[in-house]
Amino acid sequence: MSRRLGSGKLVIATHNAGKLKEIGKLLEPYGMACISAGALGLPEPPETGTTFVENALIKARAAAEASGLPALADDSGLSVTALDGRPGVYTADWAERQHFEGAPGRDWFMAMGKVEGMLQAVGPDAPRDCWFSCVLAIAWPDGKYAVYEGRSDGSLTWPPRGTLGFGYDPVFVPEGREQTFAEMDPKEKHAISHRAYAFAKLVADQFSAA
Ligand code: IMP
Repeated sequence: MSRRLGSGKLVIATHNAGKLKEIGKLLEPYGMACISAGALGLPEPPETGTTFVENALIKARAAAEASGLPALADDSGLSVTALDGRPGVYTADWAERQHFEGAPGRDWFMAMGKVEGMLQAVGPDAPRDCWFSCVLAIAWPDGKYAVYEGRSDGSLTWPPRGTLGFGYDPVFVPEGREQTFAEMDPKEKHAISHRAYAFAKLVADQFSAA
């Protein structure tokens, strides 16, 4: 069994207020007091890994070392089978405007269009299978760590549909469904998302009765 958190302070290794709120809510029932790395003034380490696990661990370890507290980080992205798993760990980068237009900021419509363009370049019959991944990593200041992975399989649709959610939600149709993640009630998405599956594994491992 992995090292356990018990109850107490946990640093959420994110500077994103939305992520902190979502993760804080999920962990509230387990007696965890969540503080963000941003609120502690911790720097954001460069995500130099080539896998979701490496990047989640880089963020969790940096926050645990700098704060002296256990820290939780997540890393997620979209992988397309016909593109050999791309954009994968570079999912957010593909939306960076400066890569294309010299202006900062992220443009998700452009990113979805880039994925679609590359898929069409593979050929008209290219399989449209893809999956979202989410890795949650917990690191302790003494170097111990635990990693939980969730995956949501589906296919890419074009053009994008729906206005809910974020990122690549308007082009992702989860397996066995017809609506995209962006057309679904958020509660429905959260029941079948890669993030929900990773959290379920974390909760079962960290907080179930021993
Ligand atoms: P990061 O984990 O914050 O580096 O972000 C990875 C990127 O993957 C996000 O910015 C989103 O574009 C994309 N992504 C991850 N999870 C989802 C999701 O549930 N829906 C849509 N896009 C997602």
